[in-house]
Amino acid sequence: MSDTQTNSKGCVLVTGGAGFIGSHTVVELLEAGYQAVVVDDLSNASAVALERVAAIVGKKNAERLHFYEANLLDREALDHIFTSHAIDCVIHFAGYKAVGESVSKPIEYYHNNLGSTLALVDVMRAHECKSIIFSSSSTVYGDPDEPPVTELSPKKMVTNPYGWTKWMIEQILTDIYSSDPAWNVVLLRYFNPIGAHPSGLIGEDPKGIPNNLVPYVAQVAVGKLEAVQVFGNDYPTPDGTGVRDYIHVVDLAQGHLAALNWMHGKTGVEIFNLGTGTGSSVLEVIHAFEAAAGKPIPYVIRERRAGDIAANWCDASKAEQMLGWKARFDITDMCRDSWAWQSANPNGFEDAQ
Ligand code: WQD
Repeated sequence: MSDTQTNSKGCVLVTGGAGFIGSHTVVELLEAGYQAVVVDDLSNASAVALERVAAIVGKKNAERLHFYEANLLDREALDHIFTSHAIDCVIHFAGYKAVGESVSKPIEYYHNNLGSTLALVDVMRAHECKSIIFSSSSTVYGDPDEPPVTELSPKKMVTNPYGWTKWMIEQILTDIYSSDPAWNVVLLRYFNPIGAHPSGLIGEDPKGIPNNLVPYVAQVAVGKLEAVQVFGNDYPTPDGTGVRDYIHVVDLAQGHLAALNWMHGKTGVEIFNLGTGTGSSVLEVIHAFEAAAGKPIPYVIRERRAGDIAANWCDASKAEQMLGWKARFDITDMCRDSWAWQSANPNGFEDAQ
């Protein structure tokens, strides 16, 4: 092993590590002294993101960053990665993630998200690597009876194939542990990740018209889109618009680091909600973004979006008690950092390519 490998805290394979949450997590891993091995097929990400990660962490830390452009369904490529690096743990982000697209393309979503996960855990097993953190989602709670949701809240019917793949992969990993108690599984259920690294060098860069609220608002703010479409203002919420638990992507990335440090040497399956415990409405987000950008953001009220729920936010006290992790940033910080990224990169990573 090279001397940088012997000096690291351990070696983590990050699938989908060039993506929005993945790249922010790789920054935290490198700054904490880990080796970070990224595998990403770049179908929904840019290799520029990893160049920017290297710029953020500095030359010395970047020596511990390795990148492989490959799809997880390519077992030969996956096997080569595990043969080339002593992987201690996998953080599994890779997967298609557009809720609306998943409704029109279920075959692609189930094949890609489930198939790649099964290939990954099969190769992990062959290389005696049985430690995995899975990027799950609050969507597995369906339409919660009464927020805040805790990790004991029931998993409910999901409204789209994307959400079902998260639901099913949690079950797959739980069943693998039941078959072999040597496995060490952490399921991290994210609420609504937004914001960007404070450097403004990396951030959310969705392809095409954004499905999610904040990247859409950001593109209105930079003049790429005309007005925000507010999907419904007749929900049973304080101002009638949908309420969500938005979490800063840097808080989320640090939650992965806290889970990685906590799970070391353990076995079992543990679930953690990663959110702020605070709900914000669509209009509150728009107003916070106006303050960050220093300009008005036009919006129009439209019909509700099919499949949307009124309100969802979490109780994140389990992560605080067991991982020693708590979200630090609020909606003002999130909008400030999202604006810094978007205004510096109006076309995302495209301009740099
Ligand atoms: C938030 C609120 C909309 C867009 C989904 C997935 C979740 C995660 C995040 C991947 C809702 C409203 C939205 C717009 C709007 N996915 N909205 N106009 O649906 O809560 O969560 O994305 O990691 O797993 O389920 O996020 O940002 O799409 O919507 O009014 O143009 O904003 O109705 O109330 P959502 P969202």
